[in-house]
Amino acid sequence: MERASILIVEDEATQRLLYAGLLRKEGYAIGEAGTGEEALELFRKDVFELVLLDYKLPDTDGLTLLKKFKEINPDVEVIMLTAFGSIENAVGALKAGATDYLTKPIDLDDLLFKIKKTEEKTYLVRENRVLKETLKDRFKSEDFVYQGEKMHEVASLIVRIAKTDSTCIIGGESGVGKEIVVDLIHALSDRKEYPLIKVNCAAIPETLLESELFGYEKGAFTGAYQRKIGKFEMAHKGTIFLDEIGDIPLLLQSKLLRALQEKEIERLGGLHSVKVDTRIIAATNKNLEEEVKKGAFREDLYYRLNVVNILVPPLRERKEDIPLLIDFFLKKYNGKHKKNVKGVTREARDIFMKYDYPGNVRELENMTERAVVLTRGDYISIEDLPAFSGQTKILLEKNMKGTVETVEKNMILDALISADWVQTKAADVLGLSERMLRYKIKKYNIVRTARSSG
Ligand SMILES: Nc1ncnc2c1ncn2[C@@H]1O[C@H](COP(=O)(O)OP(=O)(O)OP(=O)(O)O)[C@@H](O)[C@H]1O
Ligand SMILES: [Mg+2]
Repeated sequence: MERASILIVEDEATQRLLYAGLLRKEGYAIGEAGTGEEALELFRKDVFELVLLDYKLPDTDGLTLLKKFKEINPDVEVIMLTAFGSIENAVGALKAGATDYLTKPIDLDDLLFKIKKTEEKTYLVRENRVLKETLKDRFKSEDFVYQGEKMHEVASLIVRIAKTDSTCIIGGESGVGKEIVVDLIHALSDRKEYPLIKVNCAAIPETLLESELFGYEKGAFTGAYQRKIGKFEMAHKGTIFLDEIGDIPLLLQSKLLRALQEKEIERLGGLHSVKVDTRIIAATNKNLEEEVKKGAFREDLYYRLNVVNILVPPLRERKEDIPLLIDFFLKKYNGKHKKNVKGVTREARDIFMKYDYPGNVRELENMTERAVVLTRGDYISIEDLPAFSGQTKILLEKNMKGTVETVEKNMILDALISADWVQTKAADVLGLSERMLRYKIKKYNIVRTARSSG
């Protein structure tokens, strides 16, 4: 992994040299600035992935500078260096997009640790972008939107297996995007010039499913006036997508197994088998292993299908994807409903982020579409999310309080450690009365442990 380049903005020369020396030894490329003006000049000239930013500078303050950096490069990671007792500054910095903060005096191990953590994250973002470019090249439409690591893994898996002919099972709750994954696999495969045929096994009555899949010959049964080609044959040289595979009746499962093993099918009432070269991709929101245990799904078929297993995680486990998805759906439904909604208010965005989405991406999509239709303003606001605002608002208030409390607790702990747990000294550094400090220590249940002894 290529080492990141870091800009150190700190007006105290000795401190700056100390950080710079340490980080150069670790192999980072370093830029140094002692004022806001110098920092901006360097930042415009060179590319920095990370900035160590002192809050107090002679010509400006860290928060102002942070915002300017983010304007120039929204992807830049900023670690803010704040003084003791300035909880508001730390919270403000985090809210303005800082990745993390450290309180002075800076613990060098801590500094290195946080930089490495941030570096891993930026590395991932970069890799993500490369992968997206690859996807964009090969998959004309950009309908597959994600931001975070979890879907990044899904995307890498898709790219890796698309060109192979292996069968796969796509798992995941309803609405997570299983069908999109199938579209992508097909579009990235060498079969893309041939059809992708979709069959929803749960939607077709059992009695018709067999003839849908395998077709029939003229006279195979009453009403079969002419030969009908089944979906398997239609998908010859292409891909067949068997959605809700868990709902295929047992009898058909053996026929499917045969098609997989022999690479040939038999039309109903047919005398000969027909060679087909069709890739099978199946999806289900059932737990197939359990269906196998229950005897509802053939074990041999399960193993045949499950050469590759792609599990699409529920949206609530990858909330970092939500903002991009909202933007994507805004564009989509602005177009459809001839509206020009520009975005989402901060409050509404918080609600979008807090909600758990039992219906996953489909539910988020529906929520966004409804809000686009409902809103009278340029931005979607809480009022446009009627079903969610009440309960979620309460949740949010609790949560903001939680953030402030965590920051405060950490600051007190830092102060205590550096004061060797002498409470008078710590209270002094924090600008609190001793009584207040004792109260907070009790409130946050701060105890001296081997690890926090300093
Ligand atoms: N990563 C994504 N980017 C953009 N749109 C998405 C994404 N994931 C899902 N969607 C959209 O969400 C909706 C639901 O997705 P999809 O139909 O693929 O879900 P599914 O997992 O097949 O659900 P079900 O189990 O109900 O069949 C679709 O309109 C799809 O376009
Ligand atoms: Mg589906």
